[in-house]
Amino acid sequence: VISLREIDSTNYRECIALSVAPGQEHFVASNVQSLADAYVYPDAEPYALYDEADEMVGFALLFPLPEGGPADSVPPGAALVGYILVRLMIDSGFQGRGYGRAAVDAIVERVRQRGLQKIRLSVVPENEQALALYERNGFVRTGELEGPEIVLERSV
Ligand SMILES: CC(C)(COP(=O)(O)OP(=O)(O)OC[C@H]1O[C@@H](n2cnc3c(N)ncnc32)[C@H](O)[C@@H]1OP(=O)(O)O)[C@@H](O)C(=O)NCCC(=O)NCCS
Repeated sequence: VISLREIDSTNYRECIALSVAPGQEHFVASNVQSLADAYVYPDAEPYALYDEADEMVGFALLFPLPEGGPADSVPPGAALVGYILVRLMIDSGFQGRGYGRAAVDAIVERVRQRGLQKIRLSVVPENEQALALYERNGFVRTGELEGPEIVLERSV
């Protein structure tokens, strides 16, 4: 089971120290980049991912998805339909233990608790492991591309 926790002054250094495995670097931005993105876009929701032993094993960045599609900021008064999973990473030392799948479950639960319906994300085509993880967990390709990236969505 993975829990999502806010990032604050007590845990942000640990978050920045997490890293993906060699060869995965171009699949996801660094956590320091993601925290900078979250600083600049006030609607962004960065979360540290903790395992049952209270160890930080990964990071996720969510962004609210307004009606009408992705936007840099949610227009005032716009209805939300779901969230965009902008970044997801499990530290290389913790990969292959089911945490990626458990993180998707925790994110789905969070979106459901908010009463929203949809999760959207995009994956670089070479990232076969992430594509397989998402497609086995309810995400389907929409047929859109964002730059080179394959767009997937699931309803919650
Ligand atoms: C993609 C990622 C989040 C998966 O995290 P993880 O904790 O290793 O994933 P899990 O252990 O839950 O495994 C997910 C699936 O991949 C399979 N898998 C795990 N390690 C694998 C490996 N080395 N090779 C092939 N398949 C593997 C598992 O069997 C599992 O299948 P299942 O869903 O049918 O059970 C992780 O590899 C990662 O951080 N990658 C770099 C960043 C990235 O690509 N993020 C996604 C951006 S969209």
